[in-house]
Amino acid sequence: MELSKSGANTAFNYGYLIKKIYPYIKPVMFRVILGIVVAIPLGLLDGLTAFVLKPYIDIVVNGHPAVYKSFTITREAFAAIIPWLIIVFAVVQGALKYINNYLVDWVSLKISNAIKMDLFKKLTSLDSKFFDENTSGIVLTRFLSDPDTASRSFIDSLKLLLTSAVSSLGLIFVLLYNGWKLAGIAIVVLCCAFLPVVWIRKKIKKVSNANAVLGGSINTNLNETYHGNKIMTGFGLQDKLNAKFDNQIRESFNLSISLTKRVGWMSPIMHLIASIGIAIVMVFGNKLLMSGEMTTGNFASFITSLLLLYKPIKDLGNTLTNLQNIFVAMSRVFELFDLVPEIKDKENTIELKEVNEGIKFEDVCFEYEENKPILKNISFSVPKGNVIALVGNSGGGKSTIVNLLPRFYDIKSGSIKIDDTDIRDFSLSSLRANISEVFQDNFLFSGTIRDNILMGKFNASEEEIQKVVEGAHLGEFISSLENGLDTVIGERGTTLSGGQRQRVAIARAMLKNAPVIILDEATSALDNKSEEIVQRALENLMQGKTVFVIAHRLSTIKNADEIIVINEGKLVERGTHEELVNKENGQYKYLYEMQFKKTV
Ligand SMILES: Nc1ncnc2c1ncn2[C@@H]1O[C@H](COP(=O)(O)OP(=O)(O)OP(=O)(O)O)[C@@H](O)[C@H]1O
Ligand SMILES: [Mg+2]
Repeated sequence: MELSKSGANTAFNYGYLIKKIYPYIKPVMFRVILGIVVAIPLGLLDGLTAFVLKPYIDIVVNGHPAVYKSFTITREAFAAIIPWLIIVFAVVQGALKYINNYLVDWVSLKISNAIKMDLFKKLTSLDSKFFDENTSGIVLTRFLSDPDTASRSFIDSLKLLLTSAVSSLGLIFVLLYNGWKLAGIAIVVLCCAFLPVVWIRKKIKKVSNANAVLGGSINTNLNETYHGNKIMTGFGLQDKLNAKFDNQIRESFNLSISLTKRVGWMSPIMHLIASIGIAIVMVFGNKLLMSGEMTTGNFASFITSLLLLYKPIKDLGNTLTNLQNIFVAMSRVFELFDLVPEIKDKENTIELKEVNEGIKFEDVCFEYEENKPILKNISFSVPKGNVIALVGNSGGGKSTIVNLLPRFYDIKSGSIKIDDTDIRDFSLSSLRANISEVFQDNFLFSGTIRDNILMGKFNASEEEIQKVVEGAHLGEFISSLENGLDTVIGERGTTLSGGQRQRVAIARAMLKNAPVIILDEATSALDNKSEEIVQRALENLMQGKTVFVIAHRLSTIKNADEIIVINEGKLVERGTHEELVNKENGQYKYLYEMQFKKTV
């Protein structure tokens, strides 16, 4: 489920993109239309200014009074109206601009948020494989900057496109009104100004994608520096990381500059084409003026609208270029939407209510990557209420085995059954509600200790919380804190010690009170006292449950009902401690002599 590095495969499939973004525009359609309606007169105001110039020059400057039916407008009256008209224009224009800005911002924020919300939902629905295959940096750029570009800039561009188009049309009308021959020449020349836009869209897509990938690596780099700050300082990695960042920044510079090189000439070229248009028009216009075919007013109005036309035409060109960028971002966003998690409920699932008999692994084979088998034909069963200890060499596959039970990954062949029903027949939510995990490194969310414990059961009462705090042997530590349970812990719980973090995780699991417990014991040794406290907390958690424990400590192993030894993805021995320790040349006996004997 790796996101394509190039991304944006649908960037030129405009129909597909519009169809995808339409559901987000639909709920705010009324305001979109209102915004557009308001933008129309805004665009027309330029044309109006140029239009009024003709009567102004003919009546006021040249002194030809205008006769409208039986009503004659004198030179003086017209001159007196003009200053008022200017102010009225400005007021109307200002009010319309304000309304338009408000509507456009409102609409684009709404759309952007809706897309972000759906993307976040998508992110939380994806399975472990997605997170294994895509770096946090890639995910950050895809989830944070692309949706903004896809929605906010999209709506902004639409608005600009529309006002520029309306403004251009208005001005072109004034051109035609003042002299269709001249207008014809001007329009043909201006149309040529749009040709370069088509040529550069491929380049824009390439650079935009490369930039997104690079932005992802930069984000990952920042993220790693943040979370690995102690390793960085301890190992003196600053220079190396600085050099890596420097490389990324340089590459980003090269990319941006290469785009500027290709796209930067568009604006001057358009300017040149427009100037040529004006020059040609001047030559012909002069002739028409001399021959008396055009009045001075017509000519002035024509030239003014031609000059005014330059800005909206330039904006149109820029917006079309921008839209290419936006479509690329949109395409990347919708690529995410199209991801389907591999692990999901099948049709007609059953709810797992309780575990009555036990859990069975039958001939389970598993691989993370194709054709690299990790687990090979693993079979064992755990009766309800028993504790099974998994031991074996590092990298043998113990954590992998227990990750299969809550379906963080799905097996390749064989089956895992709870009370004779395949776990894939249960709904994911009910399956996971019946399993509590305490992992090797326990992740805590930023917030308070209470928030983290409550993740086991959000509606827990104060007594329930107190009970698990005691059960997890956290009481003494928490009462030593000024704010007790409401103490804020840093991101990932960095302000707590390893043992404290572990006990918070144990309390969280205790509160969840699921019948099946998965325990991946930390390999890093805590000091004897903390070790003992954590051990007692774990014993409380395990009471009366069906437990899978990846054990590194002798006490846990001895107390287990059965031990299975996993080596290189195979189950090589099983039995109780007494049975296995007496087996000549046994793998367990070896592990015991080498490791467990020294632990408590
Ligand atoms: N997400 C993953 N993607 C690909 N390979 C993985 C992934 N997680 C683990 N592996 C590989 O699977 C194998 C088994 O790993 P696993 O974590 O199950 O070992 P383990 O027995 O728990 O080891 P330890 O005692 O050190 O925790 C290892 O070779 C490891 O490199
Ligand atoms: Mg492990």
